[in-house]
Amino acid sequence: MPTPLLLSPTTLRGLTLPNRVVVSPMCQYSARDGIANDWHFAHLAQFAIGRTGLIFTEAAAVDRAGRITHGDLGVWSDEQIAPLRRITDFVKSQGCVPAIQLAHAGRKASMQRPWHGNGPMDDSDRARGEQPWQVVAPSAVPVGEGWLVPHELTLAEIEQLKVQWRAGARRAIAAGFEVAEVHGAHGYLIHAFLSPLSNKRTDAYGGDFAGRIRLALEISAIVRAEWPADRPVFFRVSSSDGIEGGWTADETVELARALRGVGIDVIDCSSGGIAGSATAARIKRTPGFQVPFAERVRREADIRTMAVGLILDGEQAERILQSCQADLVAIGRQALFDPHWTLHAAAALHAEGGFEQWPVQYGWWLDRRRNVLDEQDAERAVYRAASVAR
Ligand SMILES: Cc1cc2nc3c(=O)[nH]c(=O)nc-3n(C[C@H](O)[C@H](O)[C@H](O)COP(=O)(O)O)c2cc1C
Repeated sequence: MPTPLLLSPTTLRGLTLPNRVVVSPMCQYSARDGIANDWHFAHLAQFAIGRTGLIFTEAAAVDRAGRITHGDLGVWSDEQIAPLRRITDFVKSQGCVPAIQLAHAGRKASMQRPWHGNGPMDDSDRARGEQPWQVVAPSAVPVGEGWLVPHELTLAEIEQLKVQWRAGARRAIAAGFEVAEVHGAHGYLIHAFLSPLSNKRTDAYGGDFAGRIRLALEISAIVRAEWPADRPVFFRVSSSDGIEGGWTADETVELARALRGVGIDVIDCSSGGIAGSATAARIKRTPGFQVPFAERVRREADIRTMAVGLILDGEQAERILQSCQADLVAIGRQALFDPHWTLHAAAALHAEGGFEQWPVQYGWWLDRRRNVLDEQDAERAVYRAASVAR
């Protein structure tokens, strides 16, 4: 039986991923001053034990003010490098590839952790000792009623932002990451520039399509220039706002073409989030609901894509790859449910009969247990046959 695509290596620039499974970026809201701790280590290490090809950190803020919550990771300071290095070293030791999502939350910064309310910070957060801060955006348009009114970035401040993205990319390289992703989705800063719902500027960074995508292209070009030439850079896009007058899937295709032009290697196709939650929105979804975006961008912009969103099992993931809808599949919540998702998918796809792919510390025992179970099963079968005969 041929190896399933899902479990086959793939090469991006000079980097070979051992398989096509990706752990999607997932904020843990558990850092202090943006510094990774034992939680982040354990959280990401479990996916390496589970043999996920490419493992993304959560959104790491390039500026303190660009955190979504007080608990976000960051790359705005050199002291954040070493704890991240501990994670990348371990991920690599397991034959997996560490990736970082670089981000700025824009007008969706200064939020409550999901379990504290998932809205703009309020008195309950102040009572916990966590103060809100001034948020920034292309225009002074809040996410919605009751949200902080953002400060409209001046041209000088936009220049300063670019410096922060460049420095963040440099720290990510120093921390040992092999892949960087520019977070351009979910209503955060870059997405807020893309969408006409949040970008009301009349200068070079607003107005028509070329103006609204300018910052996305400039930041992507900066990260690309910093990142080693033989290592890939991804861009996560909200493929559609899903709101009248908002960012559209047609524009995503156009943006993807332009991003390819500045050297972006993979478009990570998410959606939503401009006027509220993306993933936490209480909207009924069907498995693979965002896959059509990845398929369309791949076909029409001639660039590799990553599909994400309710990809639940190996067979579904394999179908997505086999039907050329995407080049990589990202798993989010299902990886929280099953950190060994890749190994279980491999078993389900019958790629390998034993536990050879598992870390030896687990595989040796599981293989032995299987033999024991097999013998017992054989004994039981003999016993059952004997009972029936009697
Ligand atoms: C706990 C959690 C944290 C998340 N944090 C991020 C993040 O930091 N950056 C991002 O782009 N998406 C984030 N997402 C969205 C996921 O990357 C993914 O796109 C989404 O969960 C859909 O995939 P799924 O259905 O497999 O979970 C987060 C999702 C979850 C569940």
